[in-house]
Amino acid sequence: MQDLNKLQKAFNEKFTDTGLAKGTFSAPGRVNLIGEHTDYNEGFVLPIAIEKKIIMLGQLRRDRLVQIFDLGYKVEAKFSLDNLSPYKKDTWVNYLMGAMDEMQKAGYPLQGANLIFISDIPKGAGLSSSAALEVVTALTMAKLNSLEIEPAKMARLCQQAENNFVGVACGIMDQYVSCLGRKNYALFIDCRSNNYELIPFKNYNYQIVICNSRIQRGLVDSEYNRRREECKIAAEFFTHRLGSKIRALRDVTIEEFKRYEEHLPETIARRARHVISENYRVQTGAQALREGNFSAFGQLMIESHRSLKDDYQVSCAELDLLVDLALKQQGVLGARMTGAGFGGCTVNLIEKNYINCFKKNIKNEYKKNTGINPDIYITLPAEGAKVLEFMK
Ligand code: GLA
Repeated sequence: MQDLNKLQKAFNEKFTDTGLAKGTFSAPGRVNLIGEHTDYNEGFVLPIAIEKKIIMLGQLRRDRLVQIFDLGYKVEAKFSLDNLSPYKKDTWVNYLMGAMDEMQKAGYPLQGANLIFISDIPKGAGLSSSAALEVVTALTMAKLNSLEIEPAKMARLCQQAENNFVGVACGIMDQYVSCLGRKNYALFIDCRSNNYELIPFKNYNYQIVICNSRIQRGLVDSEYNRRREECKIAAEFFTHRLGSKIRALRDVTIEEFKRYEEHLPETIARRARHVISENYRVQTGAQALREGNFSAFGQLMIESHRSLKDDYQVSCAELDLLVDLALKQQGVLGARMTGAGFGGCTVNLIEKNYINCFKKNIKNEYKKNTGINPDIYITLPAEGAKVLEFMK
């Protein structure tokens, strides 16, 4: 509520009322419980939307101009919908501009708007603040322009914005869960068909706790794109050996992998082993969650981390430290890095009674080893992007 009042006040100071459609919208960040680097291999993921979000207040204009104010960082931008191309400086604008460009390219007619937003999702922490910004922009522009866009379609447009405007060849997971997350549910997504299943996650003795290493690696984008390339090479190898039934690494079984493993260059074999085994872990994990078998789920999280560290090689010393420390604490069922890697956060599954103790110990130990104060967030699965208020 406080944020809403702040936004409204700043909006009135910055912009003059156009008398046109006006509304406030929000989109959450996410944490992935399991299924890392599987989405762009047409595999499975199991994220939740988190209680941290971006709120955007917008009003339609009579012309084709877009004016944006980021209330958190106190920066602004102005551009025309007739002239959209990525910024080299002020790259934060690309998330918004990219979403608008993809909407227009998909044939949705847009009019200009005045926009202001505020975020409590930490930036560069692997909790998808960028996807949230794309999604909240797309939702705001859609509603102000009276366009009905299905959430899965909106997610796809936002993913394309990131691919084409920001230059990261990301998969669909982040934008999808930011659009379709549901309070008290984890979202099991098949990234080939885009079908999803909501798996209940509430009223249990366990809670999701996120630890932010506060490490940000510049490498993440280039390494991410390189992993994607390596997976493509692996998939092509298996198509060559096993025929056209292999369209992506998603189609290769663990047995098939083992049969051909020695013919692959070592790095490519490692990448493929991670993706193929991770897909199996997500499906097994989804079943464990359906049955409320949290200890089985926790075990899979631990295996996932090992695979990301040793085979996919996207972890870093600080994330490994957070996982090692977590696994020494009482009441912890599972811990792993989450998101693209090279810094950012870990996700932990913990018995509720032990959370305070966990927080205290992790803060002390991580600080002692690295000199950094980690941030720790406790979250339940939250609601996806939504309209907070809207006046036509
Ligand atoms: C980033 C990407 C996602 C996904 C994860 C890794 O968050 O945006 O599409 O690939 O990394 O699982």
